[in-house]
Amino acid sequence: MPYLHMANVHKRFGGVRALQGASLEVETGEVHGLLGPNGSGKSTLNKVLSGTVSPDQGTIVINGVQIGISKPVDAHRERIASAYQQLSLVPDLSLQDNLLLGTEFGTAGFVDRRASREYAAQALEHFLPGMDKGITLSTEVGSLSPGSQQLVEIAKAVARGPRILVLDEATASLRREQVDLVFETVRTLVADGVAVIFVSHRLEEVKELCDRATILRNGRTVATVEMAETTEAQLVRLMVGEVADAQEEIFEQIARVQVSDEVKLETRNLQSSRLHGVNLEARKGEVVGLGGLQGQGQSELLHVIFGDSPLTDGEIVIAGTPQKYRTPRGAIAAGVALVPGDRSTQGLLSVRPILENLNVVALRRSTWAGWFINIKRAKALATEQVDRLRIKIGSIMDPVSTLSGGNQQKVVIGKWLMNDPQIVLLDDPTKGIDVGAKAEIYDLIRLLTSEGITVLINSSDDNELAALCDRVFVMYEGEIVRVLEGDEVTQDNLVASALRVDGEKRA
Ligand SMILES: Nc1ncnc2c1ncn2[C@@H]1O[C@H](COP(=O)(O)OP(=O)(O)OP(=O)(O)O)[C@@H](O)[C@H]1O
Ligand SMILES: [Mg+2]
Repeated sequence: MPYLHMANVHKRFGGVRALQGASLEVETGEVHGLLGPNGSGKSTLNKVLSGTVSPDQGTIVINGVQIGISKPVDAHRERIASAYQQLSLVPDLSLQDNLLLGTEFGTAGFVDRRASREYAAQALEHFLPGMDKGITLSTEVGSLSPGSQQLVEIAKAVARGPRILVLDEATASLRREQVDLVFETVRTLVADGVAVIFVSHRLEEVKELCDRATILRNGRTVATVEMAETTEAQLVRLMVGEVADAQEEIFEQIARVQVSDEVKLETRNLQSSRLHGVNLEARKGEVVGLGGLQGQGQSELLHVIFGDSPLTDGEIVIAGTPQKYRTPRGAIAAGVALVPGDRSTQGLLSVRPILENLNVVALRRSTWAGWFINIKRAKALATEQVDRLRIKIGSIMDPVSTLSGGNQQKVVIGKWLMNDPQIVLLDDPTKGIDVGAKAEIYDLIRLLTSEGITVLINSSDDNELAALCDRVFVMYEGEIVRVLEGDEVTQDNLVASALRVDGEKRA
């Protein structure tokens, strides 16, 4: 009999089925990995266990006894503690106050200050070597580096003396030395008979720490495996399953999209601080890639075309007309959109509703007052975009942070499509998202080109460029040094030309 047994757990958020009969069995004294692509339901299952999400259906049995967990206090009573990537800390409070929150020391009537202090000091002790220098218990949590805050989040959960500890991407922002401190702690706890549930997108961490793992896909449990008997390739296969096959299919179809002869975008001798005379053209409905070693000016080129990185010489020509714009506002008016690379820092207002995020670009063209008057129209347009891009959401008023990685990325792209651009610039759009979510982005790019939109894409993944692009311009030190076209656009050629260029220039 497993120590923890969650069975047939269902949870819907509006139209999204986050869990559809998921199950999980964890023993005492084991680290159990919980794996699955973005949006597969890992965090939702953990939140059901910690009482922050109440399931529509399902049972939780601990040590043979069925228990009800509908609020966080129920989880505390069962000695279940969790640490997440999205921190539960209060930035304005001191380290000590944060560590005591929700414990008996933190309650109003508790006056033994020495005991409180000792509890907090002990909680922190093991993690201090991984934290910023000069930290004391009275330091405000908000002033700490993100890594240190993450360690406080973990220390807080560990200090409760849990029987079940959940770490949900709690190591994602940590450096290796910090991860080591966490792993040491986990191993000590497990030796004492604690059951640990560990979620991480870093497979090497999972392989290193976990005894077994359960794999989720689309809110369902697909397998539980012994780690020692499973290779990383097998894990990936279980996680993405038919999605990988679907991606192959999508790749095949993309290459066949018809491109017209009409030149939509042309750059003539573009110069900037990092570009030294870039000439390129892209046709209507074409996917043009920017290849080469990373950091050779690909991202800069996109920003110059979008008017948010200064042009020192040269010309941008759209549909035969030389452009005078020197700002993003001008670029947007000329039908250009740029989807930035890092979705969390540049793309989204994560606590704001999906609706607002989708309308943010269109908003810049009008005024806030106008938006309030047109809220109905804004909603209609946003809903249209959600349908067009098949973004999986509950309600359009939910914060964008409730969406999975791939769906967040679609919102980023979707908001730029609100202005009906004719040229879409994508700056490494699939970096840091899982395979399933990538397949959806490829699908979306295909949709755009089939509508006649021109796509210019910078990607750090040669495989992706090879599969997606009709032509690839290979860059080196701010110049285009080679153009691959048609059948030449293969991963081998891309790698070879990037490296050969490097060799030639060095020699
Ligand atoms: N509060 C919510 N409101 C609406 N939808 C939600 C909410 N929480 C989760 N979802 C949706 O439920 C699905 C499962 O999300 P969940 O966060 O559990 O996935 P995950 O496996 O943890 O993904 P990731 O690896 O990206 O963290 C996703 O489609 C997500 O958008
Ligand atoms: Mg998650």
